Amino acid sequence: MQGRTVSKKDAPTRAPAQDLRDWLDRVEALGELKHVRNAHWNLELGCISEINSRQRGPCLLFDDIVDYPSGFRVVTGTTGTPARLAATLRLPTNLSTPELVGMLRKKSPEWSARANDFPPQYVDSGPILENIKTGNQVNLLEFPAPMWNEGDGGRYMGTGDAVITQDPESGWVNVGTYRLMVHDQRTTGLYLAPNHHGRLHMEKYWQAGKPFPVVASVGHDPLLFLYAGVELPVGMSEYNYIGAVMGEPAKVVRGELTGLPMPAGSEIVLEGFCRPGNIKRDGPFGEFLGYYSANDVPQPVFEVERIYHRNNPIILGSPPGRPPHDYAYSKTVIRSALLHDALEKAGMTGIVSCWADEVGGGRALLVISVRQQYQGHGRQVGLMASQCPVGYWMGRYVIVVDDDIDPSNLTDVMWAVSTRCEPARDIQILERLFGTKIDAINTTMDQDVPYLSRAVIDACRTYEYRDAFPPVAEASPELQRQIREKWKDLLGTKK
Ligand SMILES: Cc1cc2nc3c(=O)[nH]c(=O)nc-3n(C[C@H](O)[C@H](O)[C@H](O)COP(=O)(O)O)c2cc1C
Repeated sequence: MQGRTVSKKDAPTRAPAQDLRDWLDRVEALGELKHVRNAHWNLELGCISEINSRQRGPCLLFDDIVDYPSGFRVVTGTTGTPARLAATLRLPTNLSTPELVGMLRKKSPEWSARANDFPPQYVDSGPILENIKTGNQVNLLEFPAPMWNEGDGGRYMGTGDAVITQDPESGWVNVGTYRLMVHDQRTTGLYLAPNHHGRLHMEKYWQAGKPFPVVASVGHDPLLFLYAGVELPVGMSEYNYIGAVMGEPAKVVRGELTGLPMPAGSEIVLEGFCRPGNIKRDGPFGEFLGYYSANDVPQPVFEVERIYHRNNPIILGSPPGRPPHDYAYSKTVIRSALLHDALEKAGMTGIVSCWADEVGGGRALLVISVRQQYQGHGRQVGLMASQCPVGYWMGRYVIVVDDDIDPSNLTDVMWAVSTRCEPARDIQILERLFGTKIDAINTTMDQDVPYLSRAVIDACRTYEYRDAFPPVAEASPELQRQIREKWKDLLGTKK
């Protein structure tokens, strides 16, 4: 990866604003941060966070965690509302969810196009270098990694993390969110799903019989977490991408052992290697579709040889589990925008809006509304969505509805499915497609190589009979407006 180097003399003297603390200040100013004291790392912090996510509550900053010194903190719920997500993306914080999706649709192609202009900027110093632990000082248990769920196989230090790896051939630096389960004082698991970029890098090192160098930041500006957890194209560094979002390069410091770039303003960074053949059972873990799954897949062991941390460090926690969970909302918004773009790039016309609903973790249930233009149009859009890269991984159902249906309103969507879709004719099943071991259904099928099917549900009025379809039995918008106006004390104003 190309990067500029700034000497110590030129390095900024104040902490870079690209950090979690600056972000917390901004969110506190929005009135969306709550401080929580004296919660226990063992299940209590996790259960509070889970209930809070379901209630769409504020961002929670846990301090005075039982068994840990004051100042060793954990934050959860970072991107759970439109305002917090917009603050993270450096967008206006007064946008509604549809406005945010619309804004992202405009911005995403711009950011992708400009990413190459924002290589990360190497600096010699940064808050992450405040404490450096080596040798016997390396102790992961020094930090309050939570035991998130009752059924988890261990404490997860990395959930909202950013795992930084490099392609040994091209030099491409990838940043991915891959969970880190603490095995003991010096090792964690590193769960790398097939085809994920970190795994592709690891395979190249291991095939050459070499240790795989890794640095993992477990607390940082949530912007890095947002894009470490979505599929940017092969070869594009998330550092470049967030540089384009911020309008300035991401500031990074070289790891002493691996030379890999870690965020200069990170809270905690683990540095070390995954050695060929060193694998261990990982999990169970409460996965993002709401089940403990993929329990029997051994994963690489991350041997941590250096820990860097700021004074009073903060772990960025983002526990999945039964949706809606900690990051379901943000992934829904981002994927909805990405899906819309992908369909238009594939030449689809008449797309009104797309929605990757939280109930499917932003992946398993996609809904698209279309203005039908020809016979087979809805079906074509549905098939395309089920096969394009944004919609493929862990996809299960794609529902296509007419443009009078709001895809983000599941009551309306299921009304359309119940009344406009003739099952034998309008549900198309696609078999033997890519599946994953973390899919709960795969567990019950016990397949070594997981294949799963997809269903495309065409819930649009049949194209050639659309004018003959009975009218909707609902007061017209004008009549509703008049009645609401006259009866506002009774009915209230429309939200
Ligand atoms: C909180 C969270 C935890 C995740 N955990 C894992 C994981 O343990 N392993 C994995 O392969 N993907 C995991 N993912 C999904 C990947 O981060 C996501 O697919 C991302 O695009 C992978 O990065 P890559 O495309 O650069 O490989 C997680 C995502 C989030 C948001």
